Amino acid sequence: MGRLSDCFSEFMFEYDTPRMVLVRHKKVGIVYRLIQLGVLAYIIGWVFMYEKGYQSEDSVVSTVSVKMQGIAYTNEKNNSRIWDVADYVFPHQGVGSFVVMTNYIETAGQKQGNCTKDGVCKSDSDCEKGKSMEGENGILTGKCVEYKGTLKTCEIFGWCPVENNHIPDPPLLMAAENFTMFIKNAITFPRYGVSRSNVMQFNKSCIYHKDTDPLCPIFRLGDLVTMAGFDFRKIAVKVRATNNYSAVCPVVFKFSH
Ligand SMILES: *[C@@H]1O[C@H](CO)[C@@H](O)[C@H](O)[C@H]1NC(C)=O
Ligand SMILES: *[C@@H]1O[C@H](CO)[C@@H](O)[C@H](O)[C@H]1NC(C)=O
Ligand SMILES: *[C@@H]1O[C@H](CO)[C@@H](O)[C@H](O)[C@H]1NC(C)=O
Ligand SMILES: *[C@@H]1O[C@H](CO)[C@@H](O)[C@H](O)[C@H]1NC(C)=O
Ligand SMILES: *[C@@H]1O[C@H](CO)[C@@H](O)[C@H](O)[C@H]1NC(C)=O
Repeated sequence: MGRLSDCFSEFMFEYDTPRMVLVRHKKVGIVYRLIQLGVLAYIIGWVFMYEKGYQSEDSVVSTVSVKMQGIAYTNEKNNSRIWDVADYVFPHQGVGSFVVMTNYIETAGQKQGNCTKDGVCKSDSDCEKGKSMEGENGILTGKCVEYKGTLKTCEIFGWCPVENNHIPDPPLLMAAENFTMFIKNAITFPRYGVSRSNVMQFNKSCIYHKDTDPLCPIFRLGDLVTMAGFDFRKIAVKVRATNNYSAVCPVVFKFSH
């Protein structure tokens, strides 16, 4: 019983405090200041300036949609035709890309039969029967027949008339130069609840121009091609696509808050 009350009074009626020791010593003082300086340099230099620990980051969520507008008229071989967006833009649901048709080769009324194609032969022995020619859509019938007067050529059995390789120049859909493209781009930073779009306010009849109308989201196709450093007429003629992706993206969006 006495032990317990001793313990209690010891606990109850005592007071302790840490004791400060002041050391007046040059070496100890310098070491102490150096350690402080090190901690300060780490916080300011590394955490703040190098790692930018006071900034927080968020990845951007971006959506882009494009709407083309414009019509073209062609009258090839007395076949009048109007081309609208559904005709010259494909695919309708592209992943990050779409194609605008600017030129085409029309081979009307093809059906299977015998016909001739460019090229010369002297006799039937030059046209091996059943052989298929590379890049052609038919097989040789084994006959060397007359074509264009005295000229003779191998007859083929296939889709006739054979498609010609003459590429129309100027391109048939040269009007595509004046087609307009409405590009809508929105970005969101979900963490901060911040959204920005390039279509805040604009004149609906505007056309983008880097000096006179830099905020307009409507672009003329010809301008885009020119800005990318190409000649619209030249690239519109080409029928075969080239796999050259080194073209420079001409449009730069600037978002400000
Ligand atoms: C196109 O049609 C017009 C009028 O119908 C005619 O005079 C002309 O000969 C035709 N051209 C061709 C290439 O068929
Ligand atoms: C095409 O030519 C072959 C060989 O001359 C002949 O047997 C065949 O009947 C011809 N076909 C047509 C559709 O004229
Ligand atoms: C495009 O529009 C301009 C101005 O309206 C016009 O002068 C030009 O002929 C048009 N281009 C084509 C290929 O239609
Ligand atoms: C939009 O642009 C057209 C043609 O440039 C102009 O006539 C019209 O006044 C403009 N509208 C506004 C609201 O600025
Ligand atoms: C691709 O385009 C670039 C820029 O226009 C050009 O310098 C380069 O020669 C082209 N490459 C081919 C293989 O066409």
